Amino acid sequence: MKLFEPLNIGSMLVPNRVMVPAMVTHLCKEDGVVTQDTVERYVRYASGGAGLIIVEAMAVHQVKSGPLLRISDDRYVPGLRELARKVHDASDSKLVPQIIHFLKVARSGWRQTADMLSVAEIDQIVEQFGDAVRRAREAGFDGAELHSAHAYTLSSFLSRANPRTDEYGGQTLEGRLRLIGRVMESVRRKAGADFPVGIRFNVEEFIKNGYTVVDSKRIALRLAELGAAYLSLSAGGKFEDAVHTPGQVLYPYNGYSGDRCMPGDWLPRALHADLAAEVKRHLIENGHRIPVGVAGKLSDPHDAERLLAEGKADLVGIARGLLADPDWPNKVRRGELERIVQCDYCNVCKALDGTHRTVICALWPQGTIQAPADNPAIQVPQWTPSAAGLTAIARESRVELKWPKAAGASHYEVYRAEARGHAELIDAVKVAFWVDNAVLGGHRYTYHVRPCAASGRPGPRSATVGVDVPAPSYLNR
Ligand SMILES: Cc1cc2nc3c(=O)[nH]c(=O)nc-3n(C[C@H](O)[C@H](O)[C@H](O)COP(=O)(O)O)c2cc1C
Repeated sequence: MKLFEPLNIGSMLVPNRVMVPAMVTHLCKEDGVVTQDTVERYVRYASGGAGLIIVEAMAVHQVKSGPLLRISDDRYVPGLRELARKVHDASDSKLVPQIIHFLKVARSGWRQTADMLSVAEIDQIVEQFGDAVRRAREAGFDGAELHSAHAYTLSSFLSRANPRTDEYGGQTLEGRLRLIGRVMESVRRKAGADFPVGIRFNVEEFIKNGYTVVDSKRIALRLAELGAAYLSLSAGGKFEDAVHTPGQVLYPYNGYSGDRCMPGDWLPRALHADLAAEVKRHLIENGHRIPVGVAGKLSDPHDAERLLAEGKADLVGIARGLLADPDWPNKVRRGELERIVQCDYCNVCKALDGTHRTVICALWPQGTIQAPADNPAIQVPQWTPSAAGLTAIARESRVELKWPKAAGASHYEVYRAEARGHAELIDAVKVAFWVDNAVLGGHRYTYHVRPCAASGRPGPRSATVGVDVPAPSYLNR
């Protein structure tokens, strides 16, 4: 499989194409120091077989911001070194910290914007990024990633909504690129030109008048010219369309751009793959073979493999899918697709991030803060042979599903297939019923459910049941 081919990223040999994109965990405290829990989270990804692990965003500066990792001072290096050492001891995965600078936000809804920074403050940010990447190298990481996506400082300068009117201004693409250009120069001066530094940025901003792939193709070209080791494409996550909750600081992921960034269950799978392909094509046309990664609902192994096979990207970013099941790479490599704990994109993890609570997956056993170990010997829940099976009844434009409880099940996966389509996971629920509100009258659907153990491990499929949904009365009159 393409997924398990190694990839050279500068001096880094990444053992396979599965990337864990940065995901804040809130497993540290306000002091920003790596904790044992932080280490365990990343060792788990390493032992699960991911090729490239990006450590959650860590700040280059010292401002109050809840439990967020820091790389803003040499005193953070020992903790970061311990993290890198433990991950390297666990596997040949490559480990890269994501480096972030963000502007100030207040509970009133006020936020600092790019035009409020003086040139002296910009100069300071440029130096801070260089120092942070130098520390990443000293700590033993394999490279570093600059966070130039979503709502943060580098991204706000790249944005079409950049309100500055000086040489860093939003009137020209070159103006918008000036800060990241200077940051890369500082990073290479302080951390060495041979240290692989990737850049994450938005392939589209998904805000009104925000930039689209028309600009991101050119941004990618410039980042390649700047010597970026790889490009990681994300999307949205902007303040411009964030909805302010009184008394809370603005959260840049609760508007439509936030939906695009961490797409919920109602958005399509692999939703940014074609945009990535456009960027990749543009780079190749201009002579750049720089590896490109992309994220956004790529946890279906067939989607992931197709993305690579079709040459749309070189790295598959799977964030919530690997949070749900860090053993995804090993299971896919062994062909054990049925054993994957599948993310249902319920976004409980996102909600926890939004309130600065420890980020866990709702599919893990209750009360745990790390994914359970994959133990093939553990009994999976079984259906009771005597109980009546799954039933599906069409009622008032909906299909109501019910099934008997399975011994040892902590939740159930619900699958639906349309005529000639393959069955797709549509939800994971703790109860033994489900209502499908998204069926089309006049069509046939088939369903099955799977009981899952507390470890998330799915058991056997129920029987498949089909249901014909009556057509509405206005059709074919
Ligand atoms: C809880 C959580 C925390 C995240 N933290 C970061 C982060 O620190 N930096 C970043 O660039 N993206 C962050 N993201 C976005 C993910 O890296 C990823 O782009 C997004 O979830 C879409 O990929 P997926 O569909 O595979 O989950 C976060 C996402 C989630 C759900």
